[in-house]
Amino acid sequence: MKKYQIAVVNGDGIGHEIVPMAEQVLQAVAAKHDFSVESTTFPFGAGYYLEHGDFMAPDGLEILKGFDAILFGAVGLPAVDDTLPFKLFTNKVRTAFKQYVNYRPVKLLDGVKSPLGTKTQKDIDFVVVRENNEGEFVQNGRQMYPDEPFGFATDTSLFTRVGVERIAHYSFKLARKRRKKVTNVTKSNTMINTLAYWDRVIGEVAEQYPDVEYHKMYIDAATANFVLHPEYFDVVLTTNMLGDILSDLGGAIMGSLGFGPSGNLNPENTFPSMFEPIHGSAPDIAGRGVANPIGQIWSVAIMLDHLGEEQAATAIVKAINRTTAAGILTKDVGGSYSTQDIARAIIENL
Ligand code: NAI
Ligand code: MG
Repeated sequence: MKKYQIAVVNGDGIGHEIVPMAEQVLQAVAAKHDFSVESTTFPFGAGYYLEHGDFMAPDGLEILKGFDAILFGAVGLPAVDDTLPFKLFTNKVRTAFKQYVNYRPVKLLDGVKSPLGTKTQKDIDFVVVRENNEGEFVQNGRQMYPDEPFGFATDTSLFTRVGVERIAHYSFKLARKRRKKVTNVTKSNTMINTLAYWDRVIGEVAEQYPDVEYHKMYIDAATANFVLHPEYFDVVLTTNMLGDILSDLGGAIMGSLGFGPSGNLNPENTFPSMFEPIHGSAPDIAGRGVANPIGQIWSVAIMLDHLGEEQAATAIVKAINRTTAAGILTKDVGGSYSTQDIARAIIENL
């Protein structure tokens, strides 16, 4: 019997409520599909920072590296400088482990009404592929004399040929397994160096996939089209920051940020990949048992798919849909069920 070693990082806020639910679903699905999972929990995050002065142990990356995958909630607390969680945990893991794909499906679940009103399940079914290692978020810049009238700040984005090529190849290959359409969401009319280069390299890669339809769309138009014409999209290929923003919009058209799952993928498996919901630690609702755990549980499905347990992955997605179809929903989508109720229902529906 196959056995997977999973590192679990709840992080902060609602991470402590939704990650344990996702673990229960993981154990339940493993028992039904003939594999086993041994999970090891690490207390890393902003809470850990308050005690130890860093978001992870000094050898944190070394430790995490030994696992088959990482199941992660979110990091960040109101009491901690909010420039630190991304720098000292999320981005550190994503870059150190070359998780250059951020795979974020946007799919309307059974029984859930999109805030877009007339749009139904056949209209809302696409994937945002967010470049996850470079772009606007490389934190290449500085602040000088911040308190002076001549204070200034810079952040210089970074795009490499290798970085753009690999995310483009991933997107076109993914499109071949879907509706064979890639939309590059860009802003090269104003970012005339970085994003013009991004477009150029993607255009070159596109020529190697003549069977896949390729389009370019500016981010401003794309935000409108996410709302007005979501059915247009299949694979949305975009940069780190644009993808971050667009995937929250994707969550919103699914009905809640709490539904959005993701995989930070290292497609070559040279390091473990990391699976987390698209949202943050939601300190405004933490500790009340009302957080929507579905994005976190769906992230487990993406993890199992990545590990090669496709049937178990499909079983989780089906169980999620049976649950939402029955109207078993949390408060953020108009329901009255608790975080635990949702997880319990999903396990029963497996
Ligand atoms: P957020 O995504 O945590 O929350 C935004 C809004 O969505 C809040 O009103 C929240 O209650 C709601 N929400 C989010 N997830 C939900 C769920 N599962 N169920 C029901 N409602 C949900 O974003 P925010 O407030 O901007 O950031 C809070 C903290 O999270 C900050 O410290 C931020 O830096 C951190 N953060 C961490 C991320 C990560 O670890 N990958 C990603 C995004 C934010
Ligand atoms: Mg985000």
